[in-house]
Amino acid sequence: MDQIKGVFNGNFDSIENIKISPFSRAYTFSDSIYEVVPFYKSNIIAFNLHMERLLYSAEALNINVNIENIEREIKKLISSCEKQSGYVYYQVTRGVDSVRSHMYSNSLEVETFGYVLPFSFKSKSLKVMICEDIRWGRCDIKSTSLLGNVMNMNSSQDEGCDEVIMHKDNVLTEAGASNVFFTKNEVICTPKLSKSILPGITRSLLIDELNKAKLPIIEGVFSLEDLSKANAVWLTSSTKGISLVDEIINLESTLQTNDPLFIKSKSLFDNKFFS
Ligand code: PDD
Repeated sequence: MDQIKGVFNGNFDSIENIKISPFSRAYTFSDSIYEVVPFYKSNIIAFNLHMERLLYSAEALNINVNIENIEREIKKLISSCEKQSGYVYYQVTRGVDSVRSHMYSNSLEVETFGYVLPFSFKSKSLKVMICEDIRWGRCDIKSTSLLGNVMNMNSSQDEGCDEVIMHKDNVLTEAGASNVFFTKNEVICTPKLSKSILPGITRSLLIDELNKAKLPIIEGVFSLEDLSKANAVWLTSSTKGISLVDEIINLESTLQTNDPLFIKSKSLFDNKFFS
């Protein structure tokens, strides 16, 4: 495999040359935020929205970011990629402590790390498992603290699944690394934004396209019963695009693969961003 191209604290290098302190708060506390920024045929998808969300996460955790530098580094990583389609992972960490301490000093120097990978954005149908949402109360922050997601997604992998759909006390939240949409009674439904879900960029791009096309979409509070009556279920993310769920292993369901609202949603999105 070609060497992965990265940038650490502003220095571009291949990943194996990057050295990180064990006292980095990314390592000891997951005290970091991140973005996954997709580009397709050399066009960055929704760059500004990704940068706005990074700023939102940074503000929520009181991490100082230099957004102009970050934007420059992400664009440079993209132009250094040997393929025209892929994504950049970019992480901002509060900094390196002199000794591990829960309470951080305000004088820490922010640590940044990014890399670029080619990616083909081929969507495939997904097999999912329903799980209880065991995560913390600020899932709106795109933090690298993802153990709840990691635990749930790996339990689902043990059952041969690709993803999970999570619920808190029977209220649907989101998937392990994507947002959830479904159709019921000829309306497209998705959980409304709250501190329990990540405000997905793909989610918001799709909702804009649906509104422009005047397709019926409700952002609301939905239950497992609603999901079990869905005609089609799909997940959205920067790397999955719009991916149909063709099986839910532990919920009775009535899923169709030819739901007209799903087909329209997918073609609106793919025509706009992946053509
Ligand atoms: N994950 N919800 C969660 C928990 C996510 O981790 C993601 C994205 C999304 C979708 O967000 P967006 O449409 O902005 O990619 C929703 C990224 C891709 C990841 O962690 O790799």
